[in-house]
Amino acid sequence: MARFETQIGIVGAGPAGLMLSHLLHLSGIASIVLEAKPRAYCEERVRAGVLEHTSVEMLKEAGVGDRLDREGLRHGGIDLGVHAVRHRIPFVELTGKCVTVYAQQEVVKDLIARRLADGGDLRFECGDVSLHDIDGERPSIRVEKNGTVDEIRCDYIAGCDGFHGASRSAFPEGALTIYERTYPFAWLGILAEAAPSREELLYMHHERGFALYSMRSPRITRLYLQCRPDEDIAEWSDDRIWSELQMRLTCSDGWRPTEGKVLQKGVTGMRSFVVEPLQYGRLFLAGDAAHIVPPTGAKGMNLAFADVHHLAASFEAFYGSNDGSKLNAYSQTCLGRIWKAQRFSWWMTSLLHRFENETGFDYKRQLAELEYVTSSRAAATCLAENYVGLALD
Ligand code: FAD
Ligand code: PHB
Repeated sequence: MARFETQIGIVGAGPAGLMLSHLLHLSGIASIVLEAKPRAYCEERVRAGVLEHTSVEMLKEAGVGDRLDREGLRHGGIDLGVHAVRHRIPFVELTGKCVTVYAQQEVVKDLIARRLADGGDLRFECGDVSLHDIDGERPSIRVEKNGTVDEIRCDYIAGCDGFHGASRSAFPEGALTIYERTYPFAWLGILAEAAPSREELLYMHHERGFALYSMRSPRITRLYLQCRPDEDIAEWSDDRIWSELQMRLTCSDGWRPTEGKVLQKGVTGMRSFVVEPLQYGRLFLAGDAAHIVPPTGAKGMNLAFADVHHLAASFEAFYGSNDGSKLNAYSQTCLGRIWKAQRFSWWMTSLLHRFENETGFDYKRQLAELEYVTSSRAAATCLAENYVGLALD
């Protein structure tokens, strides 16, 4: 068995794990990042696209925002559509802030490049990863691959390995409380080689179900359709997808999405999920390992960044001034923001989707809420403030 030593062992090289490793490096704290998948897979996985104002500031302050600054698309608002009629929610006018559209895999590429340039220890294709002695003085992570075992002994472990990772299950039985909600629908998402035909995102409530028009770059659009949770993607030809998107997204003023070659398609389930607490012994959870939001509020990657911002600051206080109070408070500190993001994501989801078996009352109430949000400055400000991101502390 090969043995390694570090201060913080990080499981997972998604946005949370990579950003944490980078922030720790800036504070002079050593880490090793252990990732199950190959580097190319991490750099190509198509996921989030919207960065809150707060996340953009964090990336820039950490010196990893140059390409984001050059290539990110700044959006000063979104459109909410109700039955083909669009209403703009002007973020800049309502909050003074905007969001930036920049693909998650680009953030991941930038962080990997920077960690490697700084001599960071990132280990891809790790095979089986297991956590040990998390309530002892010296926890360890074991990595088993092709019959060989590496052991990484550390002071603390950060579980940044997403919803399906190994870290959360290392908590002992009964240590975690799970809060969860599933939704009776999913999103069918495509990436298309088509220049965006509008500058901002369009979230459309439609009788046939929700649809979202988003983008990645001046050449690539990203679109989603509400579908069944068990939807078989094989039943959706490109023609069928475009025809459904046209039906749901075409606006009364004649605007419609431009079509193009479908580069990628898939179905994503919708779930709200939080575990409490985020810490047990020397193991701390961050990002999707601890919580999942339905994507309607565009909050997942942003929450992951907020978690690791606090976790890095807690380790800095511990190693720099022997102050463990922030580490002890980490879970509580993060949960405040996590629950606000949960509330917002649940609310956006409930506002915009069609619910099977809804009563006439529910539907009328939903339409009244849409009308309220699109006509009241106070209600629109509430949406805008949450969408651009609440303050970090
Ligand atoms: P992940 O990105 O899941 O990273 C975890 C890493 O750990 C992965 O690389 C994984 O391979 C690795 N791993 C897993 N298990 C192990 C193991 N046992 N050992 C070692 N490594 C392991 N969020 C937004 O903010 N805005 C959006 O617009 C948005 N849109 C979305 C659209 C879709 C379709 C989806 C699916 C998600 C979207 N999200 C969005 C959510 C966002 O993608 C996630 O919240 C984000 O990826 C969380 O980052 P993370 O680092 O916590 O986890
Ligand atoms: C995306 O571009 O992938 C995206 C945008 C906004 C969301 C969710 C996903 O709310």
